[in-house]
Amino acid sequence: MKTAIRGRCLSYRDNPFTAPIKDCLRYEEDGLVVMEGGKITATGAAQELLPKLGETVPVTQYNDALICPGFIDCHVHYPQTEIIGAFGKQLIDWLNNYTFIAEQKFADKEYARAASEVFLKEILRAGTTTATVFCTVHPESVDAFFEQSAKINMRNIAGKVLMDRHAPAALTDTAQSGYDQTKRLIEKWHGNGRALYAVTPRFAPTSSEEQMEMTGAVWKEHPGTYLQSHISENKQEIEWAQELFPARKSYVDIYHHYGQLGPRAIYGHGVHFTDEDFRIFSETGTAIAHCPTSNLFLGSGLFKLEQSMTGSAPVRTGFATDLGGGTNFSQLVSMNEAYKIAQLSGFSLGAHKAFYLATRGAATALYLEDIIGSIEPGFEADLTVLDLKATPLLTYRLAYANSLEEQLFALMTLGDDRVAQATYIAGELVYSRNSETAGAFYDF
Ligand code: GUN
Ligand code: ZN
Repeated sequence: MKTAIRGRCLSYRDNPFTAPIKDCLRYEEDGLVVMEGGKITATGAAQELLPKLGETVPVTQYNDALICPGFIDCHVHYPQTEIIGAFGKQLIDWLNNYTFIAEQKFADKEYARAASEVFLKEILRAGTTTATVFCTVHPESVDAFFEQSAKINMRNIAGKVLMDRHAPAALTDTAQSGYDQTKRLIEKWHGNGRALYAVTPRFAPTSSEEQMEMTGAVWKEHPGTYLQSHISENKQEIEWAQELFPARKSYVDIYHHYGQLGPRAIYGHGVHFTDEDFRIFSETGTAIAHCPTSNLFLGSGLFKLEQSMTGSAPVRTGFATDLGGGTNFSQLVSMNEAYKIAQLSGFSLGAHKAFYLATRGAATALYLEDIIGSIEPGFEADLTVLDLKATPLLTYRLAYANSLEEQLFALMTLGDDRVAQATYIAGELVYSRNSETAGAFYDF
């Protein structure tokens, strides 16, 4: 069925880090987005499009709101939702004390199904419409996730964690079983509806050389699939990785050696990247998921966003929450914290650039910039509607904002999931904060 939504519309056609903002911005003060068959079929000024629309097409009007492409979270762990905000030390202790305990429960498919539902509702509540997701080592955790995701027709990317050492026995596979299970899951899920599969080695320290070999092989054997992992997050982790793979020149070189870099490979963090690391990622077309709230919460360090986006070796970069290391599902909060990280690094991240990194930039990191992340005809109709009067303080502050960029900046500084008013997946309203039952999800 053809439907439309009307209001202020914002999206990006190009990268504002490298192109003038006037060439990037697609903004309509009174815009219309027409949707049919899961896609955006037309968009532009409401005055121009409404006369051609046909009187029977329902139009939902959003006042005091901003219609944006749905946010994209490039790196997140659904099984860690239950340990968000766990007090502790840094990465390795946090993994051992919380993560590896929680993830053991996901051998139980019903447990995994319930947790997937909580996770998906939380991301929709935050206005996120696509996520790149770590499941656990258990194939059941992947089935449960994709089955729930399919119910709401979401374009999510996910995969079974591969780990054959340095983790509790209940969380390890073997090089062979990891390979076999990954292959089976790819055949079952990659391209099944909107699902996409990511081969998911947790990080080099938890995979043997044999598993690293077979991981590179299974990814190569299935063109079009993704590969996701972690890299250079924490100083202790970097030293450990280098000790475990002494023949390799650097942490990046480990993944490079085992055939795990290239288009559709996306790595969380890269906090401590050297110029050479950026160069290899840039040349191979490998992407970085920048995880601001996680990097601050786990005390990992300050990611070099300016270098990643505008240095001599630019890398496809998108924002991510990395929850449960990250502390909020809202990409508005990621923007806010990314701004502060950049400030401490001598770079002031403007609002358009921040919104880009949570939408089209993130889609570019995932090589999906031709189908999601922008409001353009032919794109998939995944949208979020942000309420510019979500809180009394936001309402008050925005009254004093003199331009779109000032408004966006206040929104990313003050906003969180309270701002996401409605979330559309493939043209369907799946979450509406203002429905009769507050926080209602449709057809879940
Ligand atoms: N490195 C390896 N595993 C993890 C994880 O689950 N979270 C984070 N933040 N870093 C990791
Ligand atoms: Zn992570």
